[in-house]
This record gives sequence, structure tokens and C-alpha cells, in this order.
Amino acid sequence: MRIHHLGYAVKSMDVSIEEFVKLGYERVGETVADEARGVMIQFMNLGNYCIELVAPMNAASSINGIITKLGNTPYHICYSVDNIDEAVERLKNEGYVLMEKPSCAIAIDSNKVAFLYNKHMGIIELVEENEHV
Ligand code: NI
Repeated sequence: MRIHHLGYAVKSMDVSIEEFVKLGYERVGETVADEARGVMIQFMNLGNYCIELVAPMNAASSINGIITKLGNTPYHICYSVDNIDEAVERLKNEGYVLMEKPSCAIAIDSNKVAFLYNKHMGIIELVEENEHV
């Protein structure tokens, strides 16, 4: 598995983008609305590192729980895999619980992503990348 990005929960997308830019990050494309997940997403690069800013679209957004508890914070590492269904099965056998089954992520070229949780790890995301990178 290769690290694809670090997911970073932010309360207000536009002001947080400005703060990351001040540190030298560059925006990767435009901010994308992921209606299915109730979040706004903006990828930012610093050198070879990619972070994903995730902001709530509304009060019902699931990201609000993390922001309320912890404020702006990194909250998941996303790993790229060749076959997401195989990777999910393997991790379930390793004690991970599937939080969100593989489905398309509009912010990542509609590649399939899945979220899993392990109490000794926290949240991880998988993204299937088999045609490029
Ligand atoms: Ni992510």
C-alpha cells in the first residue's frame, strides 16, 4: 500500500485553504462538493505530500462530529490499493470494521474509496488506483 493522502477535517474551507497556502501548499484543482458524503473537498500539495481538506456542507455532515470534538485536525490516512475489494476483505480479517463500503469518490476522479476503522489505528481510507500512478 502507498500513502495517497492525509485527510484533514476543517470547519471553514476557504479560510483554511488560505492558511495552508501561507505554509507553501498549492491547490490541486478546484474545491469539489461530495453531495453523497455531505462534504466539501480540496486537495492540496506540498512537495510530494498530498493532504485532503474536508469541510462540512451542512449541519448533518458526518465530519461535524470530529470537528466538534477535536477542532481542525488530521483524521485519516488514505492508502492506494490495486484491488479495493480484496484489500477490504484482508483488513476485515485483520480486525478492521468497514465504516463505508467501496463507492465512488467524486473528488478522486470517481475512483472507488472505502473507510475502515480499527480501535488501535483509528480511521483509514482505501482508494483503488489500478489504471494510473
Ligand atoms: Ni480521504
